[in-house]
Amino acid sequence: MIHYQFTHLSEEIRARVDALLAQMTLEEKIGQMNQVTPHWTSDLEAQLRTGQIGSILGIIDPTEINRFQRIAVQESRLGIPLLIGNDVIHGYRTVFPIPLAEACTWDPALQEQASRVAAAEAAACGTDWIFAPMVDICRDPRWGRIAEGAGEDPFLGRAMARARVRGFQSAGLPGRRRIVACPKHYVAYGAAEAGRDYNSTDPSERTLRDVYLPPFKAAFDEGAGTTMSAFNEIGGIPATANSFTLKRVLREEWGFADMLVVSDYNAIAELVAHGIAADLKEAARKAIMAGVDMDMMSFAYIRHLADLVREGSVPEAAIDAAVRRILALKFALGLFDHPYIDEMLPAQVILHPEHRALALEVARRSMVLLKNDGLLPLRVAPTSKIALIGPLADDHAAPLGCWAWMGRPEDVESVLDGFQACLPAGIELDHVRGCAVWRDPFEEFGRAEAAARAADVAVLVLGEDAHMSGEARSRAYLDLPGRQQALLERVLTTGTPTVVVLMSGRPLVLTPWIDRVNAVLQAWHGGIRAGRAVAEILLGQVNPSGKLSVTFPRALGQVPIYYAHKNTGRPLQGTGTLQFADPFWSRYIDEENEPCFPFGYGLSYTTYRYDNLQIETPVVEMGGTLRVSATVTNTGTMAGEEVVQLYVRDLVGSVTRPVKELKGFQRIALAPGESVRVSLAVPADELGFHGPDNRYVVEPGAFRVWIGPNSVEGLEGEFELRA
Ligand code: GLC
Repeated sequence: MIHYQFTHLSEEIRARVDALLAQMTLEEKIGQMNQVTPHWTSDLEAQLRTGQIGSILGIIDPTEINRFQRIAVQESRLGIPLLIGNDVIHGYRTVFPIPLAEACTWDPALQEQASRVAAAEAAACGTDWIFAPMVDICRDPRWGRIAEGAGEDPFLGRAMARARVRGFQSAGLPGRRRIVACPKHYVAYGAAEAGRDYNSTDPSERTLRDVYLPPFKAAFDEGAGTTMSAFNEIGGIPATANSFTLKRVLREEWGFADMLVVSDYNAIAELVAHGIAADLKEAARKAIMAGVDMDMMSFAYIRHLADLVREGSVPEAAIDAAVRRILALKFALGLFDHPYIDEMLPAQVILHPEHRALALEVARRSMVLLKNDGLLPLRVAPTSKIALIGPLADDHAAPLGCWAWMGRPEDVESVLDGFQACLPAGIELDHVRGCAVWRDPFEEFGRAEAAARAADVAVLVLGEDAHMSGEARSRAYLDLPGRQQALLERVLTTGTPTVVVLMSGRPLVLTPWIDRVNAVLQAWHGGIRAGRAVAEILLGQVNPSGKLSVTFPRALGQVPIYYAHKNTGRPLQGTGTLQFADPFWSRYIDEENEPCFPFGYGLSYTTYRYDNLQIETPVVEMGGTLRVSATVTNTGTMAGEEVVQLYVRDLVGSVTRPVKELKGFQRIALAPGESVRVSLAVPADELGFHGPDNRYVVEPGAFRVWIGPNSVEGLEGEFELRA
């Protein structure tokens, strides 16, 4: 699909911008830099008429959008149209699985389609600017916003970021509208200390450049035209006042001079709370001088920039540079030519059957089968009886997940709905809620136990509601919330075979009970079609194919835990270091080092065999390409899709290197008995990192390479990268 590039704007647009800028007063320029939401802004219409607002966020009613747009265009001196921005993180009205789940599809093409559907519905309703994709790498499931991103790995994160930008900025959207994406939150927001939202981050420059920045660079290279500065400090300097990331990296090193930077919500004012600005005026100065072009809802710019310019603290050239980016984007989006939306469009686009069908396909592919002792797929006979138990079995809100506020519970198929739609006639389904998700004393353990005892199989739908992840929703514990584990224990006393379906916005700690259940399906918050997808998978109508985009810890104490960790000087796999009686290793005395389920892991109803690894390039020249292949065979009785993954390890570097790094993947479909030769290619330039001087370097030397089904298994080989 063709998509728009917004990073380098045409000379025609520059000329139109310069002509308009020359007519603008200082106050009108600053007005363009002011973004507000009507919910907290009094006298909004008066401010529109005097050109004090450049963008509005958080309005989704097309009629209201047109009304505000008409005031800006027809009743202000210069008639500059508004930018309408909204959070469309995983779907607009057709809500898809949360992005952490979407990443478990390992299917960028499918992700692009889903993002295009989200853009089509958003555009039809008047949104020009989508505050997404959220591309924050995160390795700490305590952080609630892990739900919004693509997980722990920069390579998978980059692939998903590119796909989402292509989808959001698609050509051919309804009403000839265009949408610009906003990869966020720039940068390292996912590194919040202790997983507590908004908390300090302190990555080294190397970690910043090797882990947190790459998905942004990938999104910008794909043409994303804006970014959003984050709330968090980065090693002492808040992202919203950080000229290293906002100017040195973004504009000077990467060359995105036209990139519009908007602050996150009130983040400029929060520089005062951070303690690097004495007041709102100093906060405004620091933000504009660091490179933030638009102020989301702190009113710092509209209240203080004119004075700062007039007193000589801020050069007007800084204002002009910001306003040029804003006006250029408005021209590039066509807003000066088509400022209004067709209010008849939404009805033709929203929840289109094709959109709902795609939401089901994404839900199917995002779910990860974590355990199955053979109970799944459920074998149901006309006399079968299924006990469907748990606080989320008939919940229509949780599957919407966090940040889906255009979504509506009435659009959602619950797991109960899914079973009722998919079960053959005559199968008895006994639904018992059992208990609340959490914080509610409601309990009916007796009814749940009786239902399980009387059934051939118990399906428990457990986990988190939609408000337990997302912004400001960090958790200090990763267990099943509330009384859910007690409910599960009670059902287990019946001895009835038990499947757990987990709905959550993050990895949970399953260790206390996972050995005692027969099967576990990680369903995440799976969007409006979640329940249907769960039922289809449990009943064997769909073969699960999802692979984890993030590690599941065995214990909270292991967090942060991720596959691409360093080896340390005393790795557990080594001999340890003898200093006293026993060797010392990097380990816990009360827990394993390994996770419960590793990155890239996911089971299927069939089985796959990997063999015949070929390192076609045992020596790779600088600037060349590593080529590796293997044969993958479906050795089971059910057709399926497998995500073949390629990892490398740089054995010796000028800085320490991870024990494994994902450098390629391919999703393949295999019929029972079918074999496919999978060849993966990795450009040598992908094997680099930021060295002792924090410059990107590709170093010669010995490497290991794996092709396999996840980050811990696979066929192993080696190759040499030669200067
Ligand atoms: C929020 C979020 C950001 C969102 C913005 C506008 O606080 O941090 O992701 O885009 O405000 O809603």
